[in-house]
Amino acid sequence: MFQKLKGFRDIYPESMRARRIVFDKINATAREFGFHEIDAPSVEHLELFRVKSGDEIVEQTFSFVDKGGRSITLIPELTPTVARMLASRKDLIKPVKWFSFPKMWRYEEPQSGRLREFYQFNADIFGVAGIEADAEVLALAMEILDSLGLKGKYEMRVSDRLLMEEILRKLGVERIEETFRVIDKRDKIPEEQFLGKLQDIAGSDAGLEISEILSVKGTVSEVLSKIGESERGEDLLELQELLAAYGKEITLDLSIVRGLAYYTGVVFEAHDSKGEFRAILGGGRYDNVVQLFGGEPTPAVGFGMGDAVLELIMKREGIWPEERMEVDIFVAIVPGFRKEATQIAMKLRKEGFRVDMDLTGRSLGKQLKYANRINARYAIIVGEEVREGKVVAKNMKSGGQRTVEIGKLKEVINEN
Ligand code: HAM
Repeated sequence: MFQKLKGFRDIYPESMRARRIVFDKINATAREFGFHEIDAPSVEHLELFRVKSGDEIVEQTFSFVDKGGRSITLIPELTPTVARMLASRKDLIKPVKWFSFPKMWRYEEPQSGRLREFYQFNADIFGVAGIEADAEVLALAMEILDSLGLKGKYEMRVSDRLLMEEILRKLGVERIEETFRVIDKRDKIPEEQFLGKLQDIAGSDAGLEISEILSVKGTVSEVLSKIGESERGEDLLELQELLAAYGKEITLDLSIVRGLAYYTGVVFEAHDSKGEFRAILGGGRYDNVVQLFGGEPTPAVGFGMGDAVLELIMKREGIWPEERMEVDIFVAIVPGFRKEATQIAMKLRKEGFRVDMDLTGRSLGKQLKYANRINARYAIIVGEEVREGKVVAKNMKSGGQRTVEIGKLKEVINEN
C-alpha cells in the first residue's frame, strides 16, 4: 500500500465537514466586510517569489523545471500572485478588497501547526495608503477569530517597520535590514546569543536599548510612553482608536518583525494567549510590491491565516465543529419499489434536503444500520404503502416512526 507524503493530509468526510463549517464562516465574515472572492493558479514562475518574498520562502518551495524548461513552483504564499493579478489590471476600481482560501505548499519540516500542504485564507486591500485600511484588515482578522469563538483566546500583536526604523535611526543604527533579520530570530536563539548578534550589528549600547524596547508590550499609548517622542507613533495611536470603534483591541509588540521581506509598515500576528502554538495568522502592509510587478504604485495591506494552527487551537478550546458525516434523509427501499423510491428521493432533493438512498438492495435492517452510521435524521421506508401515496418516516434519533403521505413529508421532516 502506498503511504502519503510527509506533511500532507488525507481529509476524510467527517473531518472535511468540520473544516467546511469553519471555512464557510471565515468566508462569510470576509463578505460581511465587503471583500470579494478571487481564485488564482496553484503554480507560478519561481522568479515571482525571488523578487520580493525573501530567500527563506524560496528555499521552502516545491519547485521544478517543467517540460518547457521553465522554473516553476507550487505557490508557497499568495501575496506575489495577488500583486501580479492587480498589476495586470488597470481598470479596477480602488480600493480593491479581495479574499481567497487556496491551498499552498512549503517544503518545511512538518511539526505541530506546520505542514507541507495547507489551506491559507488571504484578505488584502489595495489602493489605500492611510491607516484606515490597516485597521479594516486587522478588524477583519480579529472578527474572524472572534466569530469562530476564539474571543479572549488570542492576542493580536502589532508592530511597525516605520516606527522601528525611526527608533533604530535615533539610536544611530545603520544596518537596519540586518537588524530586522536578527530581531526576527529572537525567539529561535538563546537570549545571550541574540543580544550578542544585536550588539555586533548595532553596537553595544544601542544593542542593549533595542533589546529592552523589544520586551515592552502593551497598548499603543503604554508602549509609546516608554519609547518617547515619535512621529510614526501618531499613526499607531490613530490605528488603536480606529480599532476601538470596531470593538477590537491590539497589543503593540515591537518584537514582531515577520520573515517576509516585502513588508513596509504595520506588521501583525495573532498568537494563542496560552503561548502553546505558533502564530495563528500574520500580515502587514506591503506598499512596493505591485509596482515591482509592473503596476501603478499601489499601497497594499493584508494577511494570511492557515488552517492548521486554527484547527489546533479550536480543538483545544473544544469549539472545533463535531467531526461526523450527516445527511437529512436516507431512503430505504423494500424490494420491488426502487423506481418509486428514486422518484421520492429526487423530489426531496429538489426540496433542498440532503438525501441518500439505498444502492445495494440489502436487507432493510442493514439499510437502517447504514442510515444510522451516516447520521441521517430521518429514514423514509418505501414499500407497499407507496401504492396509496404513503411512506414510513422513521425519526432516527427518537426511533419513533409513522406512516405519512408523500405530500406531507417535508412538513414532518421539518418538525424536528
Ligand atoms: P506567513 O506568515 O508566511 O505570511 O503565513 C501566514 C500564515 O499561514 C501563518 O501564520 C500560518 O497560519 C500559515 N502558515 C504558514 N506556513 C504554514 C505551514 N507550513 N503550515 C501550515 N500553516 C502555515 C504569508 O504567507 C503572507 N503572504 C500573508 C500576507 C497576505 N501578507 C499580506 N497579505
